[in-house]
Amino acid sequence: MLLVIQQLLQQALKNAIQKQLLPGFSVTSLSNGDKREIPLSLISVEISDKEEFGDYNSNLPFRIAELTNIAPEKVGSILTSELRQIPQGDDLFSQIEATKGYINFYLSSDYLLQSLQTILRQRDRYGYVIPKTGRNLVIDYSSPNIAKSFGIGHLRSTVVGQALYNLYSYRGWKCIGDNHLGDWGTQFGVLIYQINRLIEGKSRRDQKEILQNLTIKDLERMYVEFHKQLEENPQLKEQAKEWFRRLEKREKKALQIWKLCLSLSLREFNRIYKLLSIKFDYSIGESFYSRKARILLREIQKKGLAKKSEGALIMEFPDSNLPPALLLKSDGSTTYFLRDLAAVKYRLKKWHPKMIIYEVGADQSLHFRQLFQAVKLLKWDEVKLVHIAHGLIRDKEGKFSTRLGRTISLEKVLNEAIRKSEELMEKSETKRRLSSSEKKEIAHAIGIGGIKYNILSYHYSKDIIFDWEKILNLQGNSGPYLQYTYVRCYSIIQKAQKEGVRLGKLKKGTSLNKDEIALLRTLVKFPDVVQVAAEKFAPNLLCDYLYNLSSLYNYFYQQFPILKASEEDRSKRVQLTLATSYILRK
Ligand code: ARG
Repeated sequence: MLLVIQQLLQQALKNAIQKQLLPGFSVTSLSNGDKREIPLSLISVEISDKEEFGDYNSNLPFRIAELTNIAPEKVGSILTSELRQIPQGDDLFSQIEATKGYINFYLSSDYLLQSLQTILRQRDRYGYVIPKTGRNLVIDYSSPNIAKSFGIGHLRSTVVGQALYNLYSYRGWKCIGDNHLGDWGTQFGVLIYQINRLIEGKSRRDQKEILQNLTIKDLERMYVEFHKQLEENPQLKEQAKEWFRRLEKREKKALQIWKLCLSLSLREFNRIYKLLSIKFDYSIGESFYSRKARILLREIQKKGLAKKSEGALIMEFPDSNLPPALLLKSDGSTTYFLRDLAAVKYRLKKWHPKMIIYEVGADQSLHFRQLFQAVKLLKWDEVKLVHIAHGLIRDKEGKFSTRLGRTISLEKVLNEAIRKSEELMEKSETKRRLSSSEKKEIAHAIGIGGIKYNILSYHYSKDIIFDWEKILNLQGNSGPYLQYTYVRCYSIIQKAQKEGVRLGKLKKGTSLNKDEIALLRTLVKFPDVVQVAAEKFAPNLLCDYLYNLSSLYNYFYQQFPILKASEEDRSKRVQLTLATSYILRK
């Protein structure tokens, strides 16, 4: 609907210009160029958050008033009168009104009834947009560092990244999900040095046994130990560097130990992805780019964009206030930055994306500003680069920290969520009717769903205070509350089926009470909310919407009989219940 309204406004504006109703305003005024058409992107339309602003509103009169001497109220009334003259096909709106520089659009009941039928017909595909060619999108998410346990720090990137993937896929984009694993870098020099020391001089059989029994915890410990030893023996650093150099040269022994670290880590990561239902199309780690990075370096040098500095190579960013980025360390090893740049190049060539989204913590903002600036300087293909810089997840005492040795393993947190849900279930009446495998499945859905929903319900830029009570709250804005609402709908639908309630198509003019209308007005906006949530990279808007929908439905359920209502009301209300369930399920 957002698009329909934008188009109507565009047409109304053109008509008003043609009739010379807006002196001083022309097609080019808004489009800052000599375009013939006013770009739709400049006509902003929003979903209203208050009933008195209709279902949708636009501030277009304000924008035009700013560019002319005409008062916003006047522009508003000119545009609404033009809007009313445009034939809409079906009667979409019961009212279009201008108020204080805004234009408010009210959906008509006929349109609402028609849309209800559309939802019931399309179910899980209501609002789905068929993919168009040329709309490829790479999403870089999760991207943990191997040889460390998957900490709570990467949970946000994982969950929000996947949500963006799902939102954009629903909006007709071809998404390419890429887990940019941190599997390269000088820290592997340290680990290889340490592991090599463990097995050096041992028999093959012993070596094999030692390696097979290593865990991520061991790797973490060895890393910490190395830094302790370093205090007494600073020249160990050289040894670690040497090992990383050997790794970059792909020497057999170094590579073998590195591969062990990788497979150890992936085993744990994959368990977590499975628990969270996270999927990737690719998991191309940084290691993949280590050679490509060196080739890229030549391109950078040829373009005169690399500069020597204290034995290292850097890239400067003139015309911006960004500090230089490190391309090559003084010991000749490639950097995170250079590998990331090589990844951009690779992605552009392989997938021709229109956009690349990086779902990575805000602490890397500088890195991404430098990266995006470098892409500009290199004059590669046009691509929109976006850093979704998420905030921290804190516990009540502060940041969940790994440096202070208070590593919070994500796997533990997830299992704790499941355990807590089991506990909740034990307190519930329903549990008696459930088999133990059903109980397990439900505990998983509630616990994991609760955590994922909790994370998604915050705007990515905000810090999250990790709070079990909020996550598993059965009454507030939480995963379990939405699940509960869905289950309620589902049980009504099952009963209705048993009772043979007929769900005939609702006729034009079917009467709707105030609360039915409120519910329906919310239901029909699902596609618009998905659109806005995707455009603003803000799954939390979808959460707000679903929470609101759930509250409206539960209120409605408490106010009115559904299965015990008169035949006409019953059919209508069961249909509203069905529609609610489809949208919550999706
Ligand atoms: N591995 C990095 C880290 O854990 C995140 C990588 C994000 N993606 C990227 N293309 N830089 O900090």
